[in-house]
Formats: sequence, C-alpha cells, structure tokens
Amino acid sequence: MPIRKNKLILLLGVICLEQGKSVTVSVSPAPNCGQSLVKVQPWNNFNIFSRILGGSQVEKGSYPWQVSLKQRQKHICGGTIISPQWVITAAHCVSYRNTVSTVNVTAGEHDLSQTEPEEQTLTIQSVIVHPLFSSKKPMDYDIALLKMAGAFQFGQFVGPMCLPEPGEQFEAGFICTTAGWGRLGEDGVLPQVLQEVNLPILTHKECMAALSSLKKFLSGKTFLCTGFPEGGRDACQGDSGGSLMCQNKKGAWTLAGVTSWGLGCGRSWRNNMHQSDPGSPGIFTDLSKVLPWIREHIQTGHRRKSSRDSGCSVITVLFEEGFIQSPNYPGNYSDMASCNWIFQAPKHHLIELSFQSLEIEESGDCTSDYVTVHSDVERRTEIARLCGYMVPSPVLSPSSVLLISFQSDENRTCSGFQATVAFIPKADVNISTDLEDESMFLETWNVPT
Ligand code: ARG
Repeated sequence: MPIRKNKLILLLGVICLEQGKSVTVSVSPAPNCGQSLVKVQPWNNFNIFSRILGGSQVEKGSYPWQVSLKQRQKHICGGTIISPQWVITAAHCVSYRNTVSTVNVTAGEHDLSQTEPEEQTLTIQSVIVHPLFSSKKPMDYDIALLKMAGAFQFGQFVGPMCLPEPGEQFEAGFICTTAGWGRLGEDGVLPQVLQEVNLPILTHKECMAALSSLKKFLSGKTFLCTGFPEGGRDACQGDSGGSLMCQNKKGAWTLAGVTSWGLGCGRSWRNNMHQSDPGSPGIFTDLSKVLPWIREHIQTGHRRKSSRDSGCSVITVLFEEGFIQSPNYPGNYSDMASCNWIFQAPKHHLIELSFQSLEIEESGDCTSDYVTVHSDVERRTEIARLCGYMVPSPVLSPSSVLLISFQSDENRTCSGFQATVAFIPKADVNISTDLEDESMFLETWNVPT
C-alpha cells in the first residue's frame, strides 16, 4: 500500500496546488443548522393564552427540525432532525415498541389533522437507544437516535437543528423553548396544531431541591430541569422526544435537551411536602451529557477538524457515509464557488451518490455551473456531469473512491444541490467491476494542516 498512499498524497497535493488551498479532513454534519425563517427571540414571545401547558400555537415553519413520530397514523412522540438521515428522540418513545416496522417519522408537520404539502414522511432504518437508558422511573439517559430509511430534503419547512458544540452549555436562567403536540393540560386534550412554550433552565441546586421534596427522592445523571416553582408552564404527555431549544450566541437554535418526563404537567412543586399531587420541574435529557455518544454514532468522517466545513474552502475527505450540499443550500450558492469532496469507502464497497435535489444553472454541456463526479482523484474518469433542474438518478462509482466537485461561474446562481452518499457492499451490486485495485486507502494518510 505505501506506493498507493504516496501516490494519493501527491495527487491531493496537485489538486491543492491547483486550487491554491490546503487539504483538510472533515465532515459535513449539518451546515445551516438551527435556522428558522419565522421565529422571533423567545423572550419576545411570552404569551398569556394557555397551550402545550401555558404556551401558544406555533407559527408554521418556525421549527423545521420538529418531527412527529407516528404509529398507525397516530402521533405518539416528538423528535428533532439533526441531519437528513438522523432524528433524535426520547428512548422511552421507541424502546417498547416494534419501532422500526411500525413507526413513521413526519417532518414539515404543523397541523396533524391535515396533510400539508410541506410534509415528508420516512420510515426508520434503525434505532439506537442509549446503552444506559433504563425504563425504570425516574428515567435517565432517555435518548435514542433514529436513522431514517432515506433522507429528508431540506428547505424552508424541513431542516436540521444544531447540536451543541463540545463544551457548549446553556446556563441556568437561560430561557429556552419546547414544542410539541402533547396535551394542553394534565388531563387536557391533544391539540392538532404544534404548540410551544418558553421555559427557563433551573440550576442544579434548584432542581435537586425540588426533587428531594418528593416522598421518594428521584435523581439522575442526565436531568436538565426547567420550569417555574409555581408551575403553569410545562411540556406534557405527547411532547416527549421533542426538544428543548436554545438560541446560541449567533442566534442558531441548538438542541439543549430532549423532552423526557415530569410529575403530572405544570404542577407547582413549592409545597410538595403538603400536597397530595406533588409536582416536579419539566425534565429533559441534557444533551451536553450525551453528546460524545451522539457524535460517535452519527459521525460521517474520522479525524474531524471542522464540523462546519462545507467542502468549499478546502478539499473534504470523508471515510464514512454522509451528505453533502452546495454552499448556502437551500439559499443560492455564490458565484465562483469551487467545492470538492472525496469519499473513500471501505474495501469491497462501492459508492452511491443520490441527489435529493438539484437546481444548477442550465447550460447545454454543463460548463457554466455544474457538478462533476469522478471515479478517481486525478479526474481521469468523469462518470457524471450534471446541471439543470431535474433530480438525476443515482450515480454509482465503479470503485471505492469518488471525487465530487461543484463549480460555479460568475453568472446566475440557484439553490444548488443536496445529496447523500452511501457505501454499498460490492456483493450487493449486480455489476462486475475490475477496478478493485484502484481503491486507495486513506486511513494512514498524514494530513498536512
Ligand atoms: N413523558 C411524557 C411523554 O411521553 C411527557 C414528558 C413531559 N412531561 C412533563 N411534565 N414535562 O410525552
């Protein structure tokens, strides 16, 4: 392998010189995450009308990451999109049911009683429940990852929420928001339209004080507590799996917690000692406590350097399946964009590139703005050249390497493209290829910074 390795370094070096840029190994999890075209700051949004529990109806399109988990067309839980293929929910929503075969996930949902044109429903490919989740009360590590069978197509009404950066935490006192189709009161009705409520994060001390005022002290390692001692605002049955969303310094909505449990809904916990129906804060699974576990499972590349890398200022080399999109998608890409992604599949695998959308300035021979796909990093074998406004059929690589490039000129820009990249065992593909030797293994490759 050493010759091949050197050859690859040389080739990448040539590409870099061509581009006048350095090589970075990175992943593209969710560019443009946490963007809401509708939402105002939560602190401008206190509402006196009682909904979710003490909240209000959501304006359509406010939370494009909010999904509804449905079993036999019936809403059972909420969830959050974090990438085209991954949804986060509560473990207790999916661990008792035969989830993979019976639960669907609907994005772009607003009014459950209507089938809206923005809706996208996918089935689930696999469920990953946190290994430390225990269904015994009080539920701790109440979080699960759902891998979709397919990919959500992002746009104005469907998009990902940001995960916190490592070390990023939302302090006590911070006002965040939770949303869902859960009950409007402890014994209340289930609403049709998505509801939201703003909730402050409590200090650990306040939370422990509230939980220790119960007859049986409840504690957990991943509890993030919210609410008001006098009650009145809370999530409720049916909101589970949804998110506690906080806006970070840059204004991007970030997943701080997953709706998990509470004693009743919106009850006061001030006089728990003397109450027959004691209350508790609204408990969310604290994302900062389970972030490494999430990243471990959804990571689309090793040796991450920058999670925000679009592949456009550098050459992005990925060793795992993932998704790519043109810069600023679904907004228009810029003039003179030049982006390159190299995918390296494991041995005996081919690479399938499937477009969810493609809107690139049409020019007969695709020489103005275009996507090219090469089966080698030297760009000797071009296997596809794409432009225009039709979603092309999937492109299958003849080897385990794929170089995808996106170029735009100085005229006219469009929304660009979004595509997923999957590694397919050669044995599953019904074609013979004699390019096996072309596969180059990048694993041991030293990346200059
Ligand atoms: N566990 C409930 C569900 O399955 C609701 C969780 C939130 N409850 C609360 N009082 N904050 O939907």
